[in-house]
Amino acid sequence: MLSEKMVSKLNDQIGVEFFSSNIYLQMSAWCDSQGLENCASFFREHATEEMTHMHKIFDYMCEKGAMPVIGELAKPKDNYATIHDVFEEAYEHEKFVTSTINDLVSVAYEEKDWATFNYLQWFVAEQVEEEALFGKVLDKIKLIGTGGESLYFIDQEIGTLVGAEAEA
Ligand code: FEO
Repeated sequence: MLSEKMVSKLNDQIGVEFFSSNIYLQMSAWCDSQGLENCASFFREHATEEMTHMHKIFDYMCEKGAMPVIGELAKPKDNYATIHDVFEEAYEHEKFVTSTINDLVSVAYEEKDWATFNYLQWFVAEQVEEEALFGKVLDKIKLIGTGGESLYFIDQEIGTLVGAEAEA
C-alpha cells in the first residue's frame, strides 16, 4: 500500500509527465509552422513518449491499489525565437524532470517504500538518457549555427533521430 505522501508525489509526477507531453506537442507545432518538419516529427514522437511515462506511473498506482488523480495542467509556451531556443528549453525542462524524479526517489526512500523505490529506478535511468539526448542535440545545433541555410541542416540532422528511440 502506498502512503498518502507517496500517492501525492506520484500524482504530482503524473502532472509533470503530462505537461512534458504537452510542451513537446506544442514545440512540434511551432517547428511545423517554421517548416522544420523533422524537428516537428521529433517532438511529436517525444510527446508520445512522455505520455507513456505518465501511463507508467498511472498504471503503477492502480496496481498498488491507489487512485491516480490528474491535476490541472499549465498552458505550454507556444512561441520561440529560434530552434536553438526550443531545444535549450527542452533540455532545461528535462533537467527539471530529473529533479522531480530524484525528489520522488528520496520520498520513497524516506517512507521505506522499497517497491516504489525500485520501480522508480527505470525513471532514473530514463532521465540520464533524456538529458543526454537533448544535450547532444543542443551541441549539434551550436556546431551548425542557426542562421540562413543552417536551419535546413539542423532539420536534416534531427531527422536522423526520428524513430531512433522507438527502435532503441
Ligand atoms: Fe518523462 Fe522526458 O521525462
